[in-house]
Amino acid sequence: MTGPSSDPESDPKSRAIAGLRAAFDSDRPHASDPVLAVAPGRVNLVGGHTDYNDGLCLPLAVDRHVAVAAWPRDDDVIRAHATDFGETATFAPDDSPDGWAAYVAAVARVLREDVTLPGADLAIASDVPSGAGLSSSAALELAVGQSLLGVADATMDPTDLALACWRAEREGVGVECGILDQFASGLCEPDSALFLDCRSREFEHVAFGGDVGILVVDTGVSHELADSGYNDRVRECREAVAALAAASDSNLTSLRDVDTDLLERHADALDDVHYRRARHVVSENERVETARKALAAGNFDTVGDAMYESHESLRDDYEVSCAELDAAVELASETAGVYGARMTGGGFGGSAVALVDGSALDRVEREIRASVSSRVGDAADVFACRPSGGARLVMSD
Ligand code: GLA
Repeated sequence: MTGPSSDPESDPKSRAIAGLRAAFDSDRPHASDPVLAVAPGRVNLVGGHTDYNDGLCLPLAVDRHVAVAAWPRDDDVIRAHATDFGETATFAPDDSPDGWAAYVAAVARVLREDVTLPGADLAIASDVPSGAGLSSSAALELAVGQSLLGVADATMDPTDLALACWRAEREGVGVECGILDQFASGLCEPDSALFLDCRSREFEHVAFGGDVGILVVDTGVSHELADSGYNDRVRECREAVAALAAASDSNLTSLRDVDTDLLERHADALDDVHYRRARHVVSENERVETARKALAAGNFDTVGDAMYESHESLRDDYEVSCAELDAAVELASETAGVYGARMTGGGFGGSAVALVDGSALDRVEREIRASVSSRVGDAADVFACRPSGGARLVMSD
């Protein structure tokens, strides 16, 4: 079990502060307390692969975080220490480091377009599993962004910070992702999901209308969006829009402009793959609307049905699931007290999320844990979590 622990030594905040002191204290005496920022990972209840299609999604932040402790420097260099793997990267504003440091450098570069940032020493610690589809990269970006603003004594509107981190991911790391992850990690509130319109970028906090819990089944199959079929799906959707626009002689700019009626009328303009990609996105937007209303009203069976339908659509039409994710959803569906489950994140591995009756959460976690290795795989893990708040500065003591 790698769930949140009550041991303060294993808390990312404590580890980030200890890591900052261990890595940088000796050569830089600091009178002041470090700035400390945290940003959560996320799951998405419904709305898979809709964000880069200007669509709708319904994520929530989990109580797993990336923490960044930081001190300002008196030059413009950033030294970043990753406490979890004991690596330190040092870079100037125009450098482009590789690996995890690319995210840090990209966030700093984008923020510097609007804010005067001093250099900084940073230490990073996380309990968001990476490659698990829980958006550890967005959590890293948001926590780094908050900490850099903190050392600069600057503030930024949370939506602008989320957008800056989204640009950092696209420009710095080369994934054509949508805004889902950065908005979820930046803007979620405790005990709520975030209804997000990725076209208008308007959002609404949807408080759960009753006692529900969240269970994550991490398949242990790691995914890397940059290397997976993710960018292929982005391209296929773009191609589907172009074909539908030509066939319908209309000004469609994204699949958000397409409804089931238009899709069916012009289905002949698409080959089978493009038709199924479009059908997933169009139907998924409808499921988000349904789930949003049902969640607020406490109709959790309806939310759960939307989650199962979403998973089937992602598996069969969008083809971004894998055997382990399908097994995790099947296992959850057989467990009493589970309203619904689906893969979350980009897919091709990563995690499934289940919506669970809050009063049954402990039992459901135990039951799923008991058979997760035989049903899903030896590397699989299960943990319960609570919907948490978005990126923020916290007191460092
Ligand atoms: C990844 C991307 C997001 C989103 C999801 C799928 O997490 O980073 O932008 O597209 O996949 O919903």
